[in-house]
Amino acid sequence: MATTTDVQKVSILGKESIHCGFHLVPHVVQTIVTELPSSTYVLITDSNIAKFHLAAFEEQFDVSLSSLANGTHAKPRFITNIIPPGEPSKSRDGKAAIEDFLLLNKCTRDTVILALGGGVIGDLVGFVAATFMRGVRFVQIPTTLLAMVDSSVGGKTAIDTPHGKNLIGAFWQPEFIFIDAAMLETLPPREFSNGMAEVIKTAAIRNEAEFGSLESRSAEIFAAIQTPSTGFAGRTRKTRSASQELLLSVIVGSITVKSQIVTLDPLETGLRNLVNFGHTIGHAIEALLTPIILHGECVSIGMILEAEISRHMGILNQVGVGRLTRCLKAYNLPVSITDPRIANLPSAKLLSVDRLLDIMKIDKKNSGDKKKIVILSRIGDTYEQRATVVPDATIAKILSDSVTVIPGVPSHSPVTMVTPGSKSISNRALVLAALGKGTCKLKNLLHSDDTQVMMAALLELKGAQFEWEDAGETLVVHGGAGSLAVPSMGKELYLGNAGTAARFLTTVCTLVQRSPSDEADTTVITGNARMKQRPIGPLVTALAANGGKIAYLESEGCLPLSIQPNGLKGGVIQLAASISSQYVSSVLLCAPYAAEPVTLELIGGQVISQPYIDMTIVMMKSFGIEVVRRAEEGTGKLLDIYDIPKGCYVNPPEYNIESDASSATYPLAIAAITGTSCTIQNIGSSSLQGDARFAKEVLEPMGCKVTQTETETTVQGPPVGQLKAVPHLDMEVMTDAFLTATVLGAVANGKTTITGIANQRVKECNRIRAMIDELAKFGVATNELDDGLEVTGSPISQLKQGVTVHCYDDHRVAMAFSVLASAVPNTVMDEKRCVEKTWPNWWDDLQNKIGLETKGVELAGPTDSVSTTSVDSDSVKNTASIILIGMRGSGKTFIGELAASALEWNSLDADVYFETKLNIGVRQFVNEKGWPAFRETETELLKELLTEKKEGYVLSLGGGIVETPAARELLKEYSKKHGSVVHIVRNMDEVVEYLGVEGSRPAYGESITSVFDRREPWFRECCSHRFINHVEAFADGKIVIDPTVTRRGIREEVSRFFGHITGLQPNLAPNVAWGCRSYFLSLTYPDITPALPKIEELSIGVDAVEVRVDLLRSSKDIEPQGSHIPSQAYVADQIAALRRVTSLPIVYTVRTVSQGGAFPDSVQEEAKELLDLALRLGIEYIDVEISLPDAWIRELIARKGASKIIASWHDWSGKMKWNGPEVQEKYDAADKLGDIIKVVSKANSSQDNFDLQQFVTRMNSRPNAKPFLAINMGTEGQLSRILNTTFTPVSHPLLPSKAAPGQLSFGEIQHALHLIGQMPSKRFYLFGNPISHSLSPTLHNTAFKTLGLPHTYELLETEAVDEMIKATVVAPEFGGASVTIPHKLNIIPVLDRLSPSAEAMGAVNTIVPVESADGKGRILLGDNTDWLGIRGSISARIAPGCIHSALIIGAGGTARAAIYALNNLHAKTIYLFNRTHAKALELVEAFPGVNVQVVEELGKWPGGVVPPNVIVSAVPASETSLSREPHRLHFPAELFAYRDGPAIVVDMAYKPVETPLLKLAKSTAHNWETAQGVEVLLQQGYAQFELWNKRRCPQRVVSNTVWEEYNRRAE
Ligand SMILES: NC(=O)c1ccc[n+]([C@@H]2O[C@H](COP(=O)([O-])OP(=O)(O)OC[C@H]3O[C@@H](n4cnc5c(N)ncnc54)[C@H](O)[C@@H]3O)[C@@H](O)[C@H]2O)c1
Ligand SMILES: [Zn+2]
Repeated sequence: MATTTDVQKVSILGKESIHCGFHLVPHVVQTIVTELPSSTYVLITDSNIAKFHLAAFEEQFDVSLSSLANGTHAKPRFITNIIPPGEPSKSRDGKAAIEDFLLLNKCTRDTVILALGGGVIGDLVGFVAATFMRGVRFVQIPTTLLAMVDSSVGGKTAIDTPHGKNLIGAFWQPEFIFIDAAMLETLPPREFSNGMAEVIKTAAIRNEAEFGSLESRSAEIFAAIQTPSTGFAGRTRKTRSASQELLLSVIVGSITVKSQIVTLDPLETGLRNLVNFGHTIGHAIEALLTPIILHGECVSIGMILEAEISRHMGILNQVGVGRLTRCLKAYNLPVSITDPRIANLPSAKLLSVDRLLDIMKIDKKNSGDKKKIVILSRIGDTYEQRATVVPDATIAKILSDSVTVIPGVPSHSPVTMVTPGSKSISNRALVLAALGKGTCKLKNLLHSDDTQVMMAALLELKGAQFEWEDAGETLVVHGGAGSLAVPSMGKELYLGNAGTAARFLTTVCTLVQRSPSDEADTTVITGNARMKQRPIGPLVTALAANGGKIAYLESEGCLPLSIQPNGLKGGVIQLAASISSQYVSSVLLCAPYAAEPVTLELIGGQVISQPYIDMTIVMMKSFGIEVVRRAEEGTGKLLDIYDIPKGCYVNPPEYNIESDASSATYPLAIAAITGTSCTIQNIGSSSLQGDARFAKEVLEPMGCKVTQTETETTVQGPPVGQLKAVPHLDMEVMTDAFLTATVLGAVANGKTTITGIANQRVKECNRIRAMIDELAKFGVATNELDDGLEVTGSPISQLKQGVTVHCYDDHRVAMAFSVLASAVPNTVMDEKRCVEKTWPNWWDDLQNKIGLETKGVELAGPTDSVSTTSVDSDSVKNTASIILIGMRGSGKTFIGELAASALEWNSLDADVYFETKLNIGVRQFVNEKGWPAFRETETELLKELLTEKKEGYVLSLGGGIVETPAARELLKEYSKKHGSVVHIVRNMDEVVEYLGVEGSRPAYGESITSVFDRREPWFRECCSHRFINHVEAFADGKIVIDPTVTRRGIREEVSRFFGHITGLQPNLAPNVAWGCRSYFLSLTYPDITPALPKIEELSIGVDAVEVRVDLLRSSKDIEPQGSHIPSQAYVADQIAALRRVTSLPIVYTVRTVSQGGAFPDSVQEEAKELLDLALRLGIEYIDVEISLPDAWIRELIARKGASKIIASWHDWSGKMKWNGPEVQEKYDAADKLGDIIKVVSKANSSQDNFDLQQFVTRMNSRPNAKPFLAINMGTEGQLSRILNTTFTPVSHPLLPSKAAPGQLSFGEIQHALHLIGQMPSKRFYLFGNPISHSLSPTLHNTAFKTLGLPHTYELLETEAVDEMIKATVVAPEFGGASVTIPHKLNIIPVLDRLSPSAEAMGAVNTIVPVESADGKGRILLGDNTDWLGIRGSISARIAPGCIHSALIIGAGGTARAAIYALNNLHAKTIYLFNRTHAKALELVEAFPGVNVQVVEELGKWPGGVVPPNVIVSAVPASETSLSREPHRLHFPAELFAYRDGPAIVVDMAYKPVETPLLKLAKSTAHNWETAQGVEVLLQQGYAQFELWNKRRCPQRVVSNTVWEEYNRRAE
């Protein structure tokens, strides 16, 4: 069966071996079978591609090979091998796997291998072919665009290693390359765009014509791959559609260029470097962002940055950069690292200039240490026929996001220049020419974001066609004469922050004609977040009144809009024009196309920016439509009424766009401030633009000499420092220039008042505010007015230097401040790229045309050093005030106060606020005015509260607040956009009991229960979180915890909950973040409460506790087994019960039946609610199955705050293989969603564990790999549990049953790890003298034993820090040491580094061996946990923030630690007493900045002060006494004078059991708690243990044992 196929052949290395076409499979197989005879054909592909394209090959081979078989020949074999998709397959393991496959199948040297796939398959299979049996023949059948145009052509093959990409490989040419463009139809669009980056690159360096067609025909090219070709359409010329033809020509064009280059320079010695355009920087970016961001996407950004380098070198013009940018954007490629697809990635933080330059050092093109970049000279050509050397400083300048100007005299003075085309005129000209009939050549069009957006939108509306001439200096517009179409389905017109485009296009879109073939029926225009706040209401109102069918999709009065094709009726249109003249211009421009002639009446008061309206009218006239402005009869006074005839614009053959007058103000102002001269060549007195008056009306009065002709303006500045202030500048006709005037005012002599610019508050930012705030940084005084501002100038020398100006992403702010920067040293402008809006090459022109040097600056921000103490640096911290709601009596005020004290915020009760604001009690108010009036006032005050106390407050609201719908809306809005609204939940019975004794608030008049029932749902709907405040029992009535169990106080839980939900102190497991082994205890019971009394013991060693929510069943639930949905209330109570006994983070899991759990698969809505509940309860880790709908998971992620998502997949069937394609797919899917990835399979043999381990190693070596939990179930899988590092689920021998088959206990795993050599035993020491009585060995050895750690702790008593100690700390088995007297200072020289606390105290009590940051081995870190012991003993009893002052007795090392601890606890005043006064004073010196005051006599407080509520004694008890004795320190009872609240005394002495101080406290003090030295020792010991072992110390067991030992010795 012969199939006719039209193929286009391209020759490479002298052979026509590249065949291109559509639906080539029969041709491919036929060619291979006849041209490459063999006994065995092996096709290798990946599982994605196999799904779509393998069957066709199998069928065709079957047919073709069968026809070959005859008597003499056996039928050749056709075998296939499918491997996992993705870059990780391109590895040594991946290569070996294919080789094993070939060997196993007895393939010999005559084998022909077919590589069907993308670049990964091509590179990998090519390399296998190059070395298998010393080389076999192979064929490339690329299936991605990237592979078609790039990787399959040229014979380069390679694999990756952990050291880098493509480091091992060979040149091995394929026999054939078959390019079947129909395969692109199944390719994901993002992959298509990825390939387009290379296509655009090739055209950009070699072929301008090709580039032009890519530029103008992107929509068609996309259409070609998005419309499936049915019935093999395109296989023959005859059946090929126009868009297919176009697609093929693009591919063939690109391949032809690459083939030519490869043929000229096959071994890459020079010319072939050109194809590396965009790759020098692109590769560096890729190194940091792979695999999340694709190669082509990184190259796309690289091309723009490299083009900017060329522009900065004065080689490429802005037209070239602009065209390249626009073209890449048209194919959905990112063009800057600020693209949200990149900026939102955590790894984007790594993209610092230094890091990128560092990576570029190892580029293959470099010569020596000089970096080389391909420099474009214009679109279609390069500066040299190879890469060009570029200095590092230049690259750094372009890469950095901020810039500074070196002040001085502009070296090009007198400056003569043309500024870029006017944005206003460019945008108007584009609309006019597009709506016009015929062709118009636009000259000096601005190449900027704004015009790009406008052109893209007009193209999308099929309103016109564009072409570039003269290297892009001229835009040829083929007007559509008013014909416009609805964009294709789902395609929105995205306008970024381009205000002019948004306003003009709103009216243009109403003109769109309905067409029966359109699938979409409305046009949607939208923009970025700021654009969505900018007003458009008056325009929409006017259009809607004239037949426009426009709907707001989000907020009323703003974008996005949805516009139906309904046309405009014409006749009278009334428009409010006091916000923006752009509304007026928008209507004027489109008015001729209304059904009837239009009369436009401007209403609503003062019309602003009349010059822009006049500009529009003048330009309309150039395009053949004359607008008439009415005048009052008799007086001739102009009215705000315009008559526009019906008609169609006629395009003039050519239209010259005037330069932008606002832009011109910057170089002119630089002349003014630097006392030099500047001429702007095409702006003069005849200009259409209001801002053209800036020179005459602003600069001249300020003391400049201004010469203006019709078309030219020259300014000569006065000598530096002699600019004069102008008392009043009305800038209404040139509002955009006010920023320039303001910065000049800042250095003029006197006060300048600027008015008429109120509209500048609603521009890219609130510009008036921005100027005021930024000038304040220089020390410039300003004053905001209703419609302007006043600025008082200062001499330049008095302005603050080194200011960093925030530019608000506003081009005018950046350029205005660069004027100031040319006079004030070290001024830095951040966000330098914001100038792209109107003057993309401003910074280049500043240097190259004006002659002021600029320098790149990188503001502190991105760093990659992860601090070891912060567990979670990337989580969001939210300091927005927290609102508490809930029933009266639920404990809002109480919880609010605890929360505020834990967060160190303020607490405020709404009732109190009410009373102080209105001077009347709530109860009295209700009695006098009634409930409705109260509710209304309450809501008003809530509004006020939310704006006045925005941050740092915990606000408790009245219980009835939710009765008012308006208040509910406020709360919902608040919880969505700002901060947390926490519902305090308390058992009804408790509330009733509590309220019985409380009567100060208004009574209910109905039963509390019915109030409760009504309000509960409202509380639930308004809150973002739920805090369960239980005092005794739980809702179920059954859950009662054994009261003998040490309970966590409510204070601890409040501080955990609020610390976590604000992200200020996320309660996460540090080991997970650190990459240390971590475990969780699985509680898999219907009711977990029986396990709670033992929780301390059960959770020894683990990092978290897992609650299997799907298994929870209350005693009332009928179905004990099988699938089941637990009630939310029951789940919440169970969690609350768990919280009462442990602070460990909770892992919350709702496992579905299909994933091995008990939750029904079919009721996903309920699963979603339960997951949502987890977030509300402040759960730390939420297990989310990736089989749930993606949208839900994303919704959950959006709200997760500091909580972490474990994205999980469980293969319960045991079919998933760790070396197969499926697991990779699941991993990748989980990687996209989770913070932690969990994949669970089943082991059938121990080999499965080794395969698992290999997969894990491979995934963990990926850059930025996330924590990965991977285990095999079943007894055979136990090994995988032992080796797993992230959150290994464990059971405990005391628990009745295991959660999963094969589960081990923590102890068992430790033991196993030791046996298999994964946990060598270590030796720990105490250094000091004398130490024989120390309790530290008891402490640490007990902890080791309890945790099953094979370590020992021993005493090493020496006189000095001697050789013995020095030898000990460097021994390989050294695990760490405690250091005590007398070595705490002398040990320091032995150590490599000190922790901040050790540094601050100047003493070390703990030595920790740690890996050095550069990975070069072990270093010794000195730390100090003494202060932690003191802090822990105090903070266990008194909240930080409640300490008003503290007394420390003694001035030795321990006193130092005490000062550090109390300062850390924010004690406001620290009193210090020591018998030797001078020593005390010395200590004060050591803590500058801390409020330490020396007291002369104990018990005597300075007059009027409140006596301290914390006392720490750090002197030996034997030297103290309660009576006056010689040589002993006497403690008077006045020490404990404080009696008004919580207070604590800590005695650091161990002996005797009851020291004099503690005895005194017990006998005389009121309310004082006491802490003994042993407790401090324990607390610091726990901290020390954790530093060494990265594991929590089993505190209860250790403390019991240490106390026992202490008491035993005391007897
Ligand atoms: N040898 C060279 O000269 C050269 C040049 C450039 C890039 N490369 C290499 O190429 C690799 C990247 O290649 P890539 O971008 O083609 O990636 P790829 O091979 O990973 O393919 C991208 C994705 O698309 C899927 N896919 C491929 N074709 C498909 C189709 N027709 N329909 C549906 N899905 C399809 C794949 O399974 C994969 O998931 C990198 O390893 C890079 O180093 C090599
Ligand atoms: Zn590339």
